[in-house]
Parts: sequence; structure tokens; C-alpha cells
Amino acid sequence: MTLSSRWMLLFATLASLASTQTNETEFCTPPYGTWGNAYVVDTQDVLDEIASHCTTVNGSVVMFANYTGAFSLPNVRNITGSLEWRSVLDDPNLPEEPSPTEIDVPDLEYVGSSVYMNSLPALRNFSAPKLRTVGWSVSIDYAVDVDLRALESAEYIQYTGNVSTLRLDSLREVRQRVFICNKDACSEGVTPNTAFKLSLPSLSVAGALELDGRYSALDMPQLANISGQDFAARGFRFATSGGEVINLTFPKLSYVRGEMTVNGGIGSFAMESMRNMSTGFTLITSEPLNVTIPFEEATYIDIYGNITGLRFPNLKSWEQLRIHSGVDLDCEATTESLANTTAYPYSCWHSEDSSSSSGLSTGAKAGIGVGACVAGILVVGLVAWLSVRRRKRAERLKSESNMHLEETPPTYGEARAQDLPPDYATTVSRD
Ligand SMILES: *[C@@H]1O[C@H](CO)[C@@H](O)[C@H](O)[C@H]1NC(C)=O
Ligand SMILES: *[C@@H]1O[C@H](CO)[C@@H](O)[C@H](O)[C@H]1NC(C)=O
Ligand SMILES: *[C@@H]1O[C@H](CO)[C@@H](O)[C@H](O)[C@H]1NC(C)=O
Ligand SMILES: *[C@@H]1O[C@H](CO)[C@@H](O)[C@H](O)[C@H]1NC(C)=O
Ligand SMILES: *[C@@H]1O[C@H](CO)[C@@H](O)[C@H](O)[C@H]1NC(C)=O
Ligand SMILES: *[C@@H]1O[C@H](CO)[C@@H](O)[C@H](O)[C@H]1NC(C)=O
Ligand SMILES: *[C@@H]1O[C@H](CO)[C@@H](O)[C@H](O)[C@H]1NC(C)=O
Ligand SMILES: *[C@@H]1O[C@H](CO)[C@@H](O)[C@H](O)[C@H]1NC(C)=O
Ligand SMILES: *[C@@H]1O[C@H](CO)[C@@H](O)[C@H](O)[C@H]1NC(C)=O
Ligand SMILES: *[C@@H]1O[C@H](CO)[C@@H](O)[C@H](O)[C@H]1NC(C)=O
Ligand SMILES: *[C@@H]1O[C@H](CO)[C@@H](O)[C@H](O)[C@H]1NC(C)=O
Ligand SMILES: *[C@@H]1O[C@H](CO)[C@@H](O)[C@H](O)[C@H]1NC(C)=O
Repeated sequence: MTLSSRWMLLFATLASLASTQTNETEFCTPPYGTWGNAYVVDTQDVLDEIASHCTTVNGSVVMFANYTGAFSLPNVRNITGSLEWRSVLDDPNLPEEPSPTEIDVPDLEYVGSSVYMNSLPALRNFSAPKLRTVGWSVSIDYAVDVDLRALESAEYIQYTGNVSTLRLDSLREVRQRVFICNKDACSEGVTPNTAFKLSLPSLSVAGALELDGRYSALDMPQLANISGQDFAARGFRFATSGGEVINLTFPKLSYVRGEMTVNGGIGSFAMESMRNMSTGFTLITSEPLNVTIPFEEATYIDIYGNITGLRFPNLKSWEQLRIHSGVDLDCEATTESLANTTAYPYSCWHSEDSSSSSGLSTGAKAGIGVGACVAGILVVGLVAWLSVRRRKRAERLKSESNMHLEETPPTYGEARAQDLPPDYATTVSRD
């Protein structure tokens, strides 16, 4: 059986390429099949056939479940649908997912819908160095080297796996969510073997930004706005584990919709443009940290861990401010840096305690030296600390279960009801 007749029977994929297009057609509309207008690809031969005929694919390129080895599609610049993979789950002869080792689309500039190359454990490299625009979502897992250096915008970007280089040099705007996690399955309790330097030098706006894993550097000089589109409650979450000390600076960040949480071995922290932290801010550090928080107003602020120094030179109003240091923090100095500790709920204490302050008790500063008072404050503080922990834990569990539910971004079909034209639905409805 020849290649094209086999596919005519199966998906009629190559039929249109081989017969109906006599000219060296650059514009190819794949035949309509199970997954809409799509070339269904099971071998490199099929890709070569597409590459020799098409620069624009008016539809999708679908990697089929039994694809193995390298996947290379040169020449194609425009895929109006998706670049994705599909399986047929009720066919026992087919694997659950394809096993491409590398995916290389060197000329691709535009994908109208999505790049779904998630959940492919065999994948080592993903390279699309000219890809500038993706209409909806980019999901890639497992690859160690990911090259998306030209990508400027998308609705969603998602990566989970043992990444060592992730190039997103040009990424400016991700309207819904950036999710990057450099550990297997992003599971809690896993610490990756190697730390990773993440640079998002152009990123300015993200709906939500969630970074988890093991980082040795994070570079986001242009980040200005966590705009909270559909993931309003997600905000900005950064968590690193594994022992590296990381210096964080977000020089332009001035707006976060949704909570901001930073957790890990933080050696220094600066966010000098943030004045109105209109939602919650939590900072937890395992490294000694002397930090200045520039906010003028905030809802709640929770600062925990090995805080050695803490000042709030501008803070005028807040709803809740809780500080608990595991080391010898000078709470008095912190309190003095606050304009208005008596007007709003405030507590500051530390484990190696000789001084504690609480704006809730009158004359907190005066009472510090008095043993009985300190004990009283400690009890109050401990109760507060425990309830904070309980609340945090409940919130964490809640947000983690949400995270798992929402780990895969919605497809065009799922999101259609919200904000997409109906004709996109057929192309990418999930199995
Ligand atoms: C094939 O397409 C090219 C440009 O796309 C055109 O110049 C040429 O005339 C076409 N040939 C035939 C046989 O249609
Ligand atoms: C592109 O594909 C769509 C079907 O998805 C079809 O309606 C349209 O005519 C095609 N465009 C061209 C120029 O062939
Ligand atoms: C992939 O599966 C299809 C349908 O089951 C089959 O026709 C095709 O020959 C398989 N391709 C390879 C490379 O195994
Ligand atoms: C890709 O092709 C589609 C269909 O012809 C077109 O509408 C779109 O503008 C093209 N995109 C780019 C970047 O060339
Ligand atoms: C895949 O990644 C390895 C390691 O970085 C590299 O040596 C190899 O050239 C890459 N292959 C492709 C096709 O990019
Ligand atoms: C990723 O790294 C972890 C340890 O850091 C290792 O156990 C796991 O096998 C790796 N996964 C892959 C897919 O290479
Ligand atoms: C943040 O970005 C959103 C969406 O682009 C925009 O509506 C909002 O005005 C921006 N906010 C700030 C403070 O720049
Ligand atoms: C982090 O900043 C401190 C000073 O605040 C500096 O001594 C240290 O070298 C920096 N570490 C890195 C990894 O940049
Ligand atoms: C701070 O942000 C909140 C919520 O967005 C808003 O209600 C408040 O007016 C802002 N304050 C200033 C001074 O802009
Ligand atoms: C504070 O530092 C000590 C020693 O480096 C460490 O054992 C402890 O776990 C740290 N505290 C927190 C809350 O991470
Ligand atoms: C923290 O830094 C400030 C100035 O940046 C300094 O005045 C203060 O002494 C430092 N505190 C500690 C405990 O190192
Ligand atoms: C303290 O807070 C009260 C109540 O919000 C306000 O009236 C007062 O001006 C504040 N004082 C200072 C120094 O900010």
C-alpha cells in the first residue's frame, strides 16, 4: 500500500496533497475528518510530504498516537488551527500518547489556535524559534530544552517538567495565565535535581503568573501588571525549593490583581513600584532576609520565616498585617517604620523572643519589656499564628485542588461560551 492510499483510507490526509493539488501549492486545506480539517501524522514521511507542498496549513497538524521518534516539519509558516496530538482511547492497539523525542518546526511563525504538546514523557526538545503568535494556548511538558524565542503573545502558556532551558525572550503578554513548573508532574514534595534560571525579559502583562519548582534566578525586568483576566484569584505566585538563594526584583511591577505569594530561599526582595497592593501579599523566606516593603496601602500582608529586618516606610492603611520571624527580628524598629499601628490590626513577633509588638493591644511598644505582658502577647500571637497557619493551609489545599482542576487550560470549545467565536469549537474540542 502506498503512503497516500493508506491515509486516504484512514484519514484521507495525504489524498488532497498528492492528487488535488497539482501545483506546488503553498496553501493547503487538509481534508475534514474526526478532528476537523487536520493532517493526521503518524510518521516523518507524512511530515515531509506536507513540508514539500505547504507553507500555510489551513487547519491543524495532528500527531497521531503511534508517532515515535523525531518530529520535524520545516517550510510550514502558518498553521491556522492547532499543532497538537491525539489518541483514540478505546483502541487497544494504540498507545495512550505518541512518543516524539523532539519536535522541530523551524519555519513556523503563526498558529491560529494552540500548541498542545503536553503530557508527552518522551519529549526532550521543542524548537519553534520563529513562532511569533499563538492565538490561544501553548502547553508543553517534559522537554528539557524549549525554544520559543520569538513568541510574543498567547492567552495561556504552560510548562511542567525537568526543563533546563526555556527560551521565551520575546514574550510580552499572556492574557490569561503563565504557569511554569520545573519538576515532574509539578507534584508537591518533589524537589528537582537541578535549579533553573528563568528569564522572561520582555514579559510586561500576564493575567496570572504562577512559577513553581527550583529556581536559581528569576529575571522579569519589564513585568508591570498582573491583570487578573479570568484567573483573578490566582494573581502572582512564586515558590522555589531546593536550597538556592534567590534574589527577587520586580522593578516595574505596580499592579497585581489577585494575591501575591512569594515562598522560598529569598535572599533579597524588591518591588519598588508597588504602591497599592490592593489584594493580599504573603512573603515566606527560609533565608535570612532584610526587606523594605514599599506599599502605601494594602489589604492583608503576612510576612513569615527568617526575617532579620523589615521596614514599611510608606504604609498608611491596611486591613491586616502579621509578621512572624523565626529569627531575632527587631519588631520595635519595624513598628517604628509604620505610620499608623494603632488604627489597623497589626502584630509582630518572633521565635527567639525578647520583644514583641502588637498594634491591637494598647501601648504595645511600652509593654514590651514587661514579662507578663510579653507572655500575654505571645499567647495571643501564638493563637494568631496557629489560626493563620490553619487558614493558610485550608487556602493552600483549596488552591491546590483548584490548580489540578485547572492545570490544563480550557480549549477553544470550553472557552467559547465566554469569549470566542463559535466556529473555532470544532477544531479543538477535546476527546
Ligand atoms: C503555481 O503557483 C505559482 C505561485 O504560487 C504560480 O506562479 C504558478 O503559475 C502556478 N502554476 C500552475 C501550473 O498553476
Ligand atoms: C480554510 O478552511 C476552511 C474550513 O476550515 C474553509 O471553509 C475555507 O474555505 C478554507 N480557506 C481556503 C482559502 O481554502
Ligand atoms: C498508526 O495507527 C494507524 C491506525 O491504527 C495505522 O493505520 C498506522 O499504520 C499506524 N502507523 C504506524 C506508524 O504505526
Ligand atoms: C495564516 O493564514 C491565515 C489563512 O490564510 C491568515 O488569515 C493569517 O493571516 C495567516 N497568518 C499569518 C501570520 O500569515
Ligand atoms: C536537542 O537538545 C540537545 C541538548 O540541548 C541538543 O544537543 C540537540 O541539538 C537538540 N536537538 C534539536 C533538534 O534541537
Ligand atoms: C526529572 O528529574 C527527576 C529528579 O530530579 C527524576 O527523578 C525524573 O525521572 C526526571 N524525569 C524525567 C522525565 O526525566
Ligand atoms: C493591566 O492590564 C490590564 C489588561 O491589559 C489593563 O486593563 C489594566 O488597565 C492594566 N493596569 C495597569 C495598572 O496597568
Ligand atoms: C543576592 O544579593 C546579595 C546582596 O543583597 C548578594 O550578596 C548576593 O550575591 C546576591 N546573590 C545572587 C545570586 O545574585
Ligand atoms: C487601591 O486599589 C483599590 C482596589 O483596586 C482601590 O479601591 C483604591 O482606590 C486604590 N487606592 C489608590 C490610592 O489608588
Ligand atoms: C531559618 O533558617 C534556619 C537555619 O538556616 C532553618 O533551619 C529554618 O528552617 C529557617 N526557617 C524557615 C521558616 O524556613
Ligand atoms: C536592614 O537594612 C537596613 C537598611 O537597608 C539597615 O539600616 C538595617 O540595619 C538592616 N537590618 C539588619 C538587621 O540587618
Ligand atoms: C492613621 O489612620 C487614621 C484612620 O484611617 C487616619 O485618620 C490618620 O490620618 C492616620 N494617620 C497617619 C499618620 O497616617
